[in-house]
Amino acid sequence: MENITFHDHKPAALSLYDAVVDGLSREDKSIPPKFFYDKHGSELFDKICEQPEYYLPDVERRMLSQLAEEIAELTGRGRVVIEPGAGSASKVRLLLDALRPGAFVPMDISFDYLKSSAMSLAREYPWLPIHAACVDFTHSLPVPKETPKGPRLLFFPGSSLGNFDRNEAGEFLHMVHDVLGDDGMLLIGVDTKKSEVILNAAYNDAAGLTADFNLNLLRRLQRELDADIDPNIFEHKAFYNVKEGRIEMHLISTRQQTLRINGYHFEFEEDESLHTENSYKYAPMEFIDLASESGFNEVRHWVDENGLFAIYLLAVINA
Ligand code: TRP
Repeated sequence: MENITFHDHKPAALSLYDAVVDGLSREDKSIPPKFFYDKHGSELFDKICEQPEYYLPDVERRMLSQLAEEIAELTGRGRVVIEPGAGSASKVRLLLDALRPGAFVPMDISFDYLKSSAMSLAREYPWLPIHAACVDFTHSLPVPKETPKGPRLLFFPGSSLGNFDRNEAGEFLHMVHDVLGDDGMLLIGVDTKKSEVILNAAYNDAAGLTADFNLNLLRRLQRELDADIDPNIFEHKAFYNVKEGRIEMHLISTRQQTLRINGYHFEFEEDESLHTENSYKYAPMEFIDLASESGFNEVRHWVDENGLFAIYLLAVINA
């Protein structure tokens, strides 16, 4: 295929071990959520996105298809579109015909998954130059050298921003600001604050896929780090923490046990938690304030008719 290049910036794979040893040594044990997304985890996540309780992808997709032309009028056509955490790149497909990007730069932490999804995209859109990069976007956003010049649009759907805490979210937006440069724009989907009942159901789907996804992290430790651990002794727990404005996801040890990795021993008490993810929810004004602290002006934002989800188009405030 001629319209595609690949770059491996060798991100997280090397540091899974360090992150696990570091996170399990803490008083409150935790592992960063980016380690969910190996190829298997990414596929499980795609299935979560089909569960009826997880309203977010459906609402966002519907909004993007309806708004594609309006967005293209506001951004102009021909921009270089960059998508950190592109995964299956299913959402950007809703925009490509309207935006007619000069190039598309999908970034993902799983090289295997990125390869297969970028290849199908390249087959479907032969007119689109694609420069795929295996990147840990919590760390940096290296754009491949051969990417054409021209104004950029960074696309960040799925409320992935909510998986950072507030400080990290601000730092990430600063990094995006730098990558975009003058005349850059950011199109970002962010989940809103809403009823606890809806939120709790969304992260506890009846089919148990979110639980499976969460537990896959432990299986990954078995597979890749040869960890001595029994995933069956852990339970998935997810709930909305109203005070913090976030969903918290944990793996709870149902008994006292010892987890062994390469000579390290980590003790778990009965009911002790391993914190695996947060998903912060933002009221529109909260998010717009955060973005403006990071050098962005609002161009326009849209909320769906049920107040479930918001999409923001922001412009870099030129120096
Ligand atoms: N960015 C998504 C969110 O916070 C990620 C996500 C959704 C997720 N459901 C999940 C991550 C379940 C882990 C498990 O909504």
